[in-house]
Amino acid sequence: MTASALKGGVHRAWRHDSAEKHVTGRAVYIDDMPAVPGTQEIWLATSPHPHARILSIDRAAARAVPGVSAVVTAADIPGVNDVAPIFSGEPILADGVAEYVGHPVAAVAASDRDTARRAAALVEVEYEVLEPILSIEDALERESYVARPQVMKRGDAAAAIAAAPHRVAGEAGCGGQDHFYLEGQVALAVPREDSDMLVYSSTQHPTEVQHGVAHTLGVPANAVTVEVRRMGGAFGGKESQATIVAAIAAVLARVSGRPAKLRLARDDDMIVTGKRHDFLFRYEVGFDDTGRIAGLDILFAARAGNVADLSTSVMGRALCHADNCYDIPNAHFRGYCCKTNTVSNTAFRGFGGPQGMVVIELAIEHIARTLGLDVEAVRRANYYGDAPKNVTPYGQVVDDNIVEEVVDGISEKADYEARRREVAAFNESSPVIKKGIAMVPIKFGISFNVKSLNQAGALVHVYTDGSVHLNHGGTEMGQGLYVKIAQVVSEAFQIDLDRIRVSPASTDKVPNTSATAASSGSDLNGMAALDAANRIKERMTGVAAEHFGVAPGEIRFADNRIYAGNQSLAFDELAKLSWAERVSLSATGFYRTPDIHWDPETMQGRPFFYYAYGACIAEVAIDTLTGENRVLRADILEDCGTSLNPAIDLGQIEGGFVQGMGWVTMEELWWDGEGRLRTHGPSTYKIPGSRDVPPVFNVHILEDSPNPHPTIFRSKAVGEPPLMLALSVWLAIRDAVSGLARHRRFVRLDPPATPERVLAAVEEVRAP
Ligand code: MTE
Ligand code: HPA
Ligand code: MOS
Repeated sequence: MTASALKGGVHRAWRHDSAEKHVTGRAVYIDDMPAVPGTQEIWLATSPHPHARILSIDRAAARAVPGVSAVVTAADIPGVNDVAPIFSGEPILADGVAEYVGHPVAAVAASDRDTARRAAALVEVEYEVLEPILSIEDALERESYVARPQVMKRGDAAAAIAAAPHRVAGEAGCGGQDHFYLEGQVALAVPREDSDMLVYSSTQHPTEVQHGVAHTLGVPANAVTVEVRRMGGAFGGKESQATIVAAIAAVLARVSGRPAKLRLARDDDMIVTGKRHDFLFRYEVGFDDTGRIAGLDILFAARAGNVADLSTSVMGRALCHADNCYDIPNAHFRGYCCKTNTVSNTAFRGFGGPQGMVVIELAIEHIARTLGLDVEAVRRANYYGDAPKNVTPYGQVVDDNIVEEVVDGISEKADYEARRREVAAFNESSPVIKKGIAMVPIKFGISFNVKSLNQAGALVHVYTDGSVHLNHGGTEMGQGLYVKIAQVVSEAFQIDLDRIRVSPASTDKVPNTSATAASSGSDLNGMAALDAANRIKERMTGVAAEHFGVAPGEIRFADNRIYAGNQSLAFDELAKLSWAERVSLSATGFYRTPDIHWDPETMQGRPFFYYAYGACIAEVAIDTLTGENRVLRADILEDCGTSLNPAIDLGQIEGGFVQGMGWVTMEELWWDGEGRLRTHGPSTYKIPGSRDVPPVFNVHILEDSPNPHPTIFRSKAVGEPPLMLALSVWLAIRDAVSGLARHRRFVRLDPPATPERVLAAVEEVRAP
């Protein structure tokens, strides 16, 4: 902790740099930007069929609408109609065949949005309807995949299961989730001189938008500049999907010769763009009398949708989190990314991790119910520990394990054992309302599971008045990345935060960036910014040493000044002096995560630089007559290393948990038999509101727990891990249900535990 008068620095609770603008409505999002005269608005014409050959497209009627400047189809794309982030063959406009209901087939640009919408309805498409694959089961049966199955192996699971004293098998699933960012997908493309295109995109991945736009326009990357000041939420939904929206806007800007903006309406956003993958699981686990797992076999099948997008990486992370906090001596995990005629699913906070953890937590409970043991005793029998109980199914040694410390910490803070007894006593005397309580520990791997993505760049300028311009490859989506990186630079120069201005992420300032994702925004960009700042600081130190006639080692930056013994200069004075001495005050910085490697073929390696840990205890009540449920209390202990900013981190923990609560309790995507998503707006798709936040909600950040691995000021990533803490809510609902049969029966109750599903489970558990 810095005890100085500095109004900045790390490990301190500075507010989000846009907090005031967020609450007063003055924060500028793309749709708020003053329109350049002539700007066209875009509307999409989409497929009404889940699978159909496109026989012809007649644009005459749409073109005839006054105000329409362009109507484009796949045939009009100047470059390559493909924006696949990993593989290839992922068109922005359906080419020859439409593969899901909502698949964009044509795009219309007009003087205003309403005209574009009316014209889009007049695009006449003749289809030959083909047979769709709509369910995961169907895809599995027909071996319809977007990529080769992924297999992870440790030891011999089949033999271990066969030899174990006990074994159980089960099937389960979990639902998908819409991102429901407040600001939907949006991009504004502005043609400039020659073939240049400036694109304002609500994207987590400016570089990928740059590439996608360049490919679709058939121009080199240096002709495209992508800028993003902020997103109104992203949650993974704007990691790859934003590229589709931006590329369509760019094509219409090119064809119409005017700026063109595509802002998807909420219903279209939900129908046209991807979400969290729903999964189907089949597992078999062998264990001994204490509940210790001997072998675990899991089949994971994810609904990838019509194309691969990021699905194989999501599946990779699911397989890498199917151990959660437990040592699985013999594991056999198989992951199938199923090709279905539904929208292509994508990144969502946790990126497969939450889905992977559903199975193991279920298996733990299955073991406990089967043996009549306490769930926590089964957890304890299996936690990672000292060698040989410290190797993951993918070969990474868990060398920073604090699971039991975190579990003990939260159990004590939340008075877990006593409250479990109180819940049991309450249930004895309450015939209709039943309570449940459960704990979940979380271990989440930090780093992109694709090695090349673990790099970042930054650009820092110090101006002669001592103000600092900071740019880095990360994007701001509300998570507080900008203030954290500014804190890092403030710490390096020992100057107040308000001297530092973070400029919008832009591909012409910091090139070849990774998505701001995998929770690693501050880890990666913080290190790159520190590198840049330190380069300038070193040069300024040289100038100061010369000025004071001392060795560089005697120069100290503190409290907005530079000291050499009793003498000092203000930071701006030294900046001016450095300029006068013709010393550069601008630098780029770079960082790549050390010590990680991964072989996607064998699914072995050390994909994660470190793990972030956490635990949550949730208490719920269910109504056994209606299935309705509420979270009464949640207690969280989250490991943020030495937090860069405890206020921001607290917000991330609360928000992540509540978003996870939505996923496990109420958010239900519902497709009808014709492949149409029927939950495409807030009236039918329920996300948690303020009244769903647990009335008792105690969030603690683990104290005195610096990251043993050398991350930026020993902090840990916090963006995604807390979402998985909400699995405790699902487990608590399951606990309430299983309490009806004195915890001796194991029933199916998949997330989301909606009232319908809870009621069905109540009836099943009560059936003779
Ligand atoms: N917080 C807010 N407010 N809005 C968001 O869109 N996205 C989450 C998380 N927290 C998100 C958020 C996701 S999916 C990730 S990967 C991280 O933020 C990304 O930012 P970071 O790496 O800087 O933590
Ligand atoms: N998280 C988020 N995005 C990614 C990842 C990941 O682990 N790997 C590739 N893209
Ligand atoms: Mo977050 S799902 O990695 O964008």
